[in-house]
Amino acid sequence: MPYRAFVVDKRGDEFTAGIRTLDESQLPPGDVTIRVQWSSVNYKDGLASIPDGRVVRTYPMVPGVDLAGVVIESADPRFRPGDGVVVIGYDLGVAHPGGFAELARVPGDWVVHLPEGLTAKEAMALGTAGFTAALSIEALEQHGLRPENGPVIVTGATGGVGSIAVAMLAKRGYTVAASTGKASEHAYLRELGASEILSREEVSAPSNRPLESERWAGAVDPVGGDTTAYLLRTMKYGASIAISGLTGGRELHTTVIPFILRAVNLLGIESVWCPRETRIRVWQRCATDLKPPKLLESIAHETDLEGLPQVLSAILKGQVRGRTLVRLAGDDL
Ligand SMILES: NC(=O)c1ccc[n+]([C@@H]2O[C@H](COP(=O)([O-])OP(=O)(O)OC[C@H]3O[C@@H](n4cnc5c(N)ncnc54)[C@H](OP(=O)(O)O)[C@@H]3O)[C@@H](O)[C@H]2O)c1
Repeated sequence: MPYRAFVVDKRGDEFTAGIRTLDESQLPPGDVTIRVQWSSVNYKDGLASIPDGRVVRTYPMVPGVDLAGVVIESADPRFRPGDGVVVIGYDLGVAHPGGFAELARVPGDWVVHLPEGLTAKEAMALGTAGFTAALSIEALEQHGLRPENGPVIVTGATGGVGSIAVAMLAKRGYTVAASTGKASEHAYLRELGASEILSREEVSAPSNRPLESERWAGAVDPVGGDTTAYLLRTMKYGASIAISGLTGGRELHTTVIPFILRAVNLLGIESVWCPRETRIRVWQRCATDLKPPKLLESIAHETDLEGLPQVLSAILKGQVRGRTLVRLAGDDL
């Protein structure tokens, strides 16, 4: 059976990216074959689409670290034809052909049933970014965060992780502050539930002071760099920062003072190799208490394989708002 896929390839110095028609015989080894309905675009997919992005480990590769769809064949007894499933992370889209294709085949251990209350489209409107936002909130709550502790700040708030974190926190009853570099998107962030908006300049300004006034009861930080240093200086006593990303830089210049005088915690968040039991639990929360109310209406927009190059380029420039769904079979199955 032929199927369409967005393929990146590198031969010597020559890098190509575009749509190809592949045959089912070219699918990789795996236990579960999936008709992909929806995928989504993450920052990592942007890196996969450029020659020096350093995330793709073998070429040619179908990028797409997320996919959701319907099982059409399974050698794994946990899955049957017709089951709705979601796969994110692992080697998907970097060392194993990923979600930007009409068909995918993956190991059964990577596959999670769509929880009740979440369609394939909604699962991809969340995708790795939304799952990471949920992991961040779960980690903060495990470290004592409660709505009554005070305001929670979300950095890079118009991005994928940021937008979903704002909406999830607001739904859970938190007072949410959002920092953004996009002056034009304040109304969007307020619609998602932010009650205070800070500029990217304010939260990334360098400072020689090890501590500033205590302000934040918690932080979801997909930005990193100078922004994380700002957060460390301004967290309340005993508060935690869930750090997941590096769009603002990979280096962190700080002191030990916030840790040893204010008992601040810096919590690392990692979605790609997240254990299966945690995955199943967090996807269930994404379908229930953490499910953002206006996920498809406000946060997500759609493209298709033809529209991918433009979105991949925009996400690398920090220009994408919210989440971009990629329609493969769509809801037509
Ligand atoms: N640890 C994990 O498992 C995991 C999972 C998912 C994502 N991530 C990482 O998390 C980060 C965000 O991912 P995403 O999918 O949310 O990406 P995204 O949709 O591109 O969002 C990133 C946001 O960061 C802000 N930003 C961009 N350039 C910046 C700069 N130079 N300085 C400060 N802020 C900047 C922008 O928001 P504003 O314009 O609103 O400021 C942008 O929208 C990436 O580094 C990604 O690799 C990690």
